[in-house]
Amino acid sequence: MPDSTIVTLDGPAGVGKTTLAKRLAEHLGLAYLDTGAMFRATACALGQDSWTWPEEKLRQALSGLHFTLSGAGAASILAVNGASLTEAIRTETVAMWASNLAALPVVREFQKIAQQDIGQGSSLVAEGRDMGTVIFPTARCKFFLDATPEERGRRRFLQLEAQGQPADLAGIIEQIRARDLQDRTRATAPLVPAVDAVLIDTTSLDQDQVFAAMVQALNQG
Ligand code: C5P
Repeated sequence: MPDSTIVTLDGPAGVGKTTLAKRLAEHLGLAYLDTGAMFRATACALGQDSWTWPEEKLRQALSGLHFTLSGAGAASILAVNGASLTEAIRTETVAMWASNLAALPVVREFQKIAQQDIGQGSSLVAEGRDMGTVIFPTARCKFFLDATPEERGRRRFLQLEAQGQPADLAGIIEQIRARDLQDRTRATAPLVPAVDAVLIDTTSLDQDQVFAAMVQALNQG
């Protein structure tokens, strides 16, 4: 691949972006940037109620966070202030805190600068909500994945079950719907496909089929 290749992967919660973005990064030999993890880590660092803070206090706190990305493929390491992000950010509760913060323009502006800094002169697969629309509008290839809330909830439920964690399917679908609504309707950088994104409805596709469709689109692009 040529230098500074950026591939973007956007879509709603639970659609399978993380697995597919990691797999694509591995396949292409590029770094993998998980911007949802950056929002989650920000929420954990600043705290559950930080989205209610006055803008100046929030700006001050954000200025103390420095994100870096190293390595490539599945071995990519995202860190904040030198510490690798841990599995503690991977709960639905932290995701909702992240979604609350993510609606605030001051937070989005901070994340935009941090994410574009990481992408500067780098080749990567970036996953999130606004990668193709706002952060990397000139990316070489853009994907937007979607699936019904019921199917995304079912996949998350099976994942949790496989990890031996207690799970409630109806509750998970409800959480997904709530986060969808907040992410799709916020005023700043709402979740929408870029006009030039390749749209893939994954509702009735398995992971291998989605991956094959992505590789085919990349080869044609
Ligand atoms: O992708 P993930 O579920 O980890 O993202 C957590 C939350 O962070 C999302 O629900 C969304 O509100 C926010 N987010 C965002 N923009 C991104 C990535 C994540 O607003 N690029």
